[in-house]
This record gives sequence, C-alpha cells and structure tokens, in this order.
Amino acid sequence: MRIADFALERYFAKHEFSTPHILCSSDIQGMAMRDVLALADDDARQRWDDLTLGYTETAGLPVLRAEIASMYSGISPDDVLTFAGAEEAVYIAANVLLGPGDHMITTWPGYQSLYEVGRATGADVTLIELKPEQKWKLDIEALRRTVRPNTKLILLNVPHNPTGATLTHDEWRTVVDIAEAAGAYLFADEVYRLLEYNPADRLPAACELSTRGLSLSVMSKAFGLAGLRVGWLIIRDSELRARMMAYKDYTTICNSAPSEILSLIALRARTRMLARSRSIVLRNLQLFHQLCMDRPHQLRMVAPQAGSVAFPELLGDTTIADAADTLKTQHGVLVLPATVYGYPGNFFRIGFGKEDFDVGLHTFAAYLDTLPGATA
Ligand SMILES: Cc1ncc(COP(=O)(O)O)c(C=O)c1O
Repeated sequence: MRIADFALERYFAKHEFSTPHILCSSDIQGMAMRDVLALADDDARQRWDDLTLGYTETAGLPVLRAEIASMYSGISPDDVLTFAGAEEAVYIAANVLLGPGDHMITTWPGYQSLYEVGRATGADVTLIELKPEQKWKLDIEALRRTVRPNTKLILLNVPHNPTGATLTHDEWRTVVDIAEAAGAYLFADEVYRLLEYNPADRLPAACELSTRGLSLSVMSKAFGLAGLRVGWLIIRDSELRARMMAYKDYTTICNSAPSEILSLIALRARTRMLARSRSIVLRNLQLFHQLCMDRPHQLRMVAPQAGSVAFPELLGDTTIADAADTLKTQHGVLVLPATVYGYPGNFFRIGFGKEDFDVGLHTFAAYLDTLPGATA
C-alpha cells in the first residue's frame, strides 16, 4: 500500500525531542513508572511481578478487556479488541472496512490518518470542512447530504483534535441515526472522551448507542500514558471483530505484555488518573484563555469544550508558519501551525497536556511582545 506522509507525525518526529518547550502536544504528561506501579492493587502487582515476556493474546489480555468493557454500558469483554495505540486500530479498521468502490465521510481539518488510510485503500473519501464561524462544529445536515448509497463508513473524531469541539447529545443521536439509515459503520474516534470540561457534555460512546457504532480509545490522552501504546476498539459485530483481529496478525500480532499490565493498573485507578489529567488540562487552558483575553488584538480562540487541544488564531500580519518557525528556532517553543493540517489561515494547535506548559507559555507571550502591533 502506498500512503502519503503523515505531516503532523513527521513534524513531531523532527522537532518534539529537540525543542525544549512543547506547547502543542495532544497527549497528557506521561507518568513515571514508579508512580504507575504505586497505583497497583494486589492482583495487578502480582501479575506484574510474575509476568513472563512471551507473546500475548491477539485480542488483548482478557482481564484488561474486562476492565475496558466495564467503562462502557452494555459492552462485554468479548466486544473489546486492543491494539498498539489508537493508530493501529484506525489503520486496520480502514483496511478491513474500505476498498475501491466504497465511500467514507470524515471531517477536516483533522488527524490525518483518519482520512489518509481510507484514501490509500482506494476508497472515495469525502471531507466535511469544519469552520471557526460554526465554532468548529460538524454541520449535521452537510453530513446527511454527503451520504451516498455506497457510504460504508462515517468516521468522526468527537471530541475533536485540533479544535476541542464536540456535539450536543441530540446532534450525536442524529449522527447515529444517519449512520444507521445509511447502513454505514459509525467509527467514533473517542480518544479525547472523558476530558470534557463540563461532565454534562460527555456523550454516550457510539458503541453504546448502536451495534454499528465502533468506539476508539487509548491510554495516551485522558489516561496520560502514551508510551504504553495501548488502545482499543469496541466492536459489537462479531464478524467484523474477527476480520480486524485477523488483520492484526500482519501488523503487531499482539500487544506488549508489560504495557497490558500497566494499562490494567492505570484503568483500575482511573478515577485518580482522570482527575490528574483534567487538572493539568484545566489549569493550562485557563492560562491560555487568560493570554487570549489579555491580547485580543493578537490571539483569538473558539473556546474548546473537551480534550487537550484547541485551534486558536494568530492575528496580525505575521504568518503562523513564520511565527512557528521563529518560536522553534529562536525561542525553543513548539507550536503546530495549521499548515501542517493543510488548513488555510493563521490557526495553530495548542496543547494543554504538559506540566511545564506555563514556562513555554511565558516564552510564547514574550515572543508576542516582539511582533509589530503587540501593544495595539
Ligand atoms: C484524534 C486522534 N486519533 C488517534 C490518535 C492516535 O493515538 P495514539 O498515538 O495514542 O495511537 C491521535 C493522536 O494524537 C488523535 O489525536
């Protein structure tokens, strides 16, 4: 399969480990191994100490699948398949579900693999543009109009990267109805779920609303453990599940054994893990929000509703590409310009997940002071 480069991941690969202050990551600050192990209950600690490093079960460690299932209503451990991060699940789902002659719908700007893998299968991919004037929200009627008889997959990232937008409960129900009426699968990339700023905004998982709903999640975002590379997909359709599992034989075969146990520990301690993640995000969001309020002539942001990222706009004459380059090379601060999404305008992604966000933000503010019109 030939596939276009993943521009965002190439950008991070180039700059993430050589730039001191990362203001644009979507994951939450990783935790030290000793702190994760300190959360283990007796059973998990025993599993950790006794672990032998052989192959593991393709579908995932049964007790981990059971723990994941317990986070959803009406979902059994059998419905859960684990993967190497969310990324592997996206890759496999697109390959299993799509091919030439099929149609899929997703949104843009967005996480590139959500449409690029579909394209690489030969499927026809329609991108619905999200717009700041609509508060980056999906236009549900546009979705309805875009459905075709051969629409096999509707793939939505809710809450959304990079905008932090989500949908209302009614809108989400309508999306599910549209997918069901079309006979399409609704692949819901829910990796930022559980990071809603107002708990009332938390939507039911797609898999809880429909047998055609596939719910994707991962340890990287709300649980702050990206280095585990453990993600999962809830698939209630057993035939589809079997096909996805068979495809995994060609990618990773099974998960990393230590990562499965560490994921189990973290998910069993999820109340604490989620509280930690939310407090990091909310503190940093508040700092950035204040900066936008202090500098309305330089920054504008549609307030995010959930997740760890937002997509503000740099106002004034400096292009975001130039600003990002100067910030990186002269100030050691990494922001993600919209150009990496192929998106026009002066938008950039800001990420609220890092513990030293305030330090990078201070440098970012000092840079803004150097721009023409800084004190306008
Ligand atoms: C919307 C979305 N989906 C999937 C992923 C992939 O997650 P992971 O890197 O944990 O596999 C990301 C990562 O940034 C993401 O933002």
